[in-house]
Amino acid sequence: MKTIIMTGGTSGLGEIAARAIAEAPNTRLIIGARRTAAERVETIPLDLARLASVREFATAVIEKLGDTEIDGLVFNAGTQFPTIDHRTEDGFETTFGVNVLAHYLLLRLLLAKLAREAAVIITTSDRHDPKLNPMGPKEFDTDELAHPLKQRKATGFSAGFRAYSASKLGDLLIARGLAASGEAKMKKLNVVAYNPGFTAGTSLFRAWPWWAKMGVGVASLVRPFARMNTVAISGKTLAELALDRITPPPGRIYASLNSRKLEWPEPSELAQRDEVVQRFWREGARMVGFVD
Ligand SMILES: NC(=O)c1ccc[n+]([C@@H]2O[C@H](COP(=O)([O-])OP(=O)(O)OC[C@H]3O[C@@H](n4cnc5c(N)ncnc54)[C@H](OP(=O)(O)O)[C@@H]3O)[C@@H](O)[C@H]2O)c1
Repeated sequence: MKTIIMTGGTSGLGEIAARAIAEAPNTRLIIGARRTAAERVETIPLDLARLASVREFATAVIEKLGDTEIDGLVFNAGTQFPTIDHRTEDGFETTFGVNVLAHYLLLRLLLAKLAREAAVIITTSDRHDPKLNPMGPKEFDTDELAHPLKQRKATGFSAGFRAYSASKLGDLLIARGLAASGEAKMKKLNVVAYNPGFTAGTSLFRAWPWWAKMGVGVASLVRPFARMNTVAISGKTLAELALDRITPPPGRIYASLNSRKLEWPEPSELAQRDEVVQRFWREGARMVGFVD
């Protein structure tokens, strides 16, 4: 029996993935969510905008599992706003708090429960790479991302999109730090930072301005003809990674779904820099109050 723990399984590509995982033979799926997930899926309350909720969720999972180990950890939840005005309960900019800090804490809290050769999948985005996205991060300043300075432009679509792009680099830094850790090497964990590519038809764009949503709407209409990724294809690929049906080639952790084909490219230059990874792991632990 495989046991898989997942965030972001209630909507979009994660909902498709959750259904596929739940239907896989001999598989138990537990979802952490703000609302009930698909039928026949166990759900434990989790609001990633509250670190107290992340801790409660981890404790509930550990208690529920008893001696059973975790074979798959899927961190797929994500959020995006047009501005950087939103704050989590703990006072962090919400995109960074939810997409990065909450998942980082959850990983640290559940790490000891991971089975040998467990899969750890963190959903990132190719938007993290400034070579592909002009608004992609050219530096990663944990304090500035968590507490954007007042004088920084806090309104307009670009501020929110920049914050989102930086948060997806944060997800890659979580994955890279984990892959380099002694725990991952000892347990031979399959760590993957998964980029589903632009996938119209999910709720991710709900807070975008109308004109941007119209663009996404047009993209949804043309996607079957343009060989763009669909929610079904992006979700199914996530499930296959979670179920270990697709495993990373040696030395690779970044899986990118481009035009429906899964490739294993290098992530951005910043994501490849060990000192950036190590600094984030240190500062992330301080911010979420994690002590080994
Ligand atoms: N769609 C794309 O083009 C695209 C491209 C690259 C990467 N991605 C990534 O793919 C992942 C899934 O996105 P999607 O497009 O499928 O978006 P989506 O439909 O909006 O799904 C987001 C999921 O995250 C959950 N979530 C958000 N905030 C949460 C919180 N505070 N606590 C608990 N759960 C929370 C949502 O729960 P609720 O149901 O409660 O809202 C939902 O299940 C995200 O990490 C996103 O960054 C998407």
